[in-house]
Amino acid sequence: MSDTPLIQPANVGEGVYEEGREGYGHIKSYVRRAGRMSSAQENYYAEMMPKIGLVYAPQPIDLAAVFGRNNPKVLEIGTGMGETTAKIADANRDIDYLGVEVHVPGVGALCKQIAERELTNLRICQHDAVEVVRDMLPEDSLDGVHVFFPDPWHKARHNKRRLIQSPFVALLASRLKPGGYFHCATDWEEYAHQMLEVLSGEPTLVNSSEGFAPRPDYRPLTKFENRGLRLGHGVWDVIFRKKQLA
Ligand SMILES: C[S@@+](CC[C@H](N)C(=O)[O-])C[C@H]1O[C@@H](n2cnc3c(N)ncnc32)[C@H](O)[C@@H]1O
Repeated sequence: MSDTPLIQPANVGEGVYEEGREGYGHIKSYVRRAGRMSSAQENYYAEMMPKIGLVYAPQPIDLAAVFGRNNPKVLEIGTGMGETTAKIADANRDIDYLGVEVHVPGVGALCKQIAERELTNLRICQHDAVEVVRDMLPEDSLDGVHVFFPDPWHKARHNKRRLIQSPFVALLASRLKPGGYFHCATDWEEYAHQMLEVLSGEPTLVNSSEGFAPRPDYRPLTKFENRGLRLGHGVWDVIFRKKQLA
């Protein structure tokens, strides 16, 4: 009998996304955190996800059909506990937002916000955003992408887990419409420079500022950011646009 296992272990690549490796393992940009949902989060999750949850499936979706209208579509990767996501969606009801998050209590917290604010322009997909973008979002389908305070993965040996790396940025850029924007923010200076460098190196994108951008009004200050700013810590915004077709 052969010793070869019938199911081969996933052949994990070098980064969170590599073109041509669909179907193989990829490095995850998150770790599954333990953490219980509060009973409120659990109740709102159970009530809201059947209404506003988008279930991952490896096939392209029609975003206009998902939201039932043709308004601008913005993707947010890593919504965390959802305060920023909900505030932005509340203040911009003519724009549709797709939030992608793996952390279940965070999804529960965002469901609570959606219910309390009666938001109809926000959907949540609880799945790895790398796979959602790769498998579900068609090319030229997004008007904007938000990646706010992605996990910084401080240690050099963990840097490969960062979301903002060239292959994934190229994939995301392909999902933007010409003229669409790509907005990242971080409080980790070295990652901020990586963001600037990676986005500058993506040939389909162009910087909207010289270097870092001022924080636009649509991105509200978080409690955490406010505290950091009071302590003299920096926050960097990086905003690029997809080039118009020549
Ligand atoms: C540091 S938190 C920031 C959350 C939020 N954007 C904020 O500003 O408070 C990063 C979040 O991204 C989520 N995340 C990381 N990688 C992800 C992925 N590949 N797909 C979906 N969510 C991801 C994590 O679970 C975490 O909640």
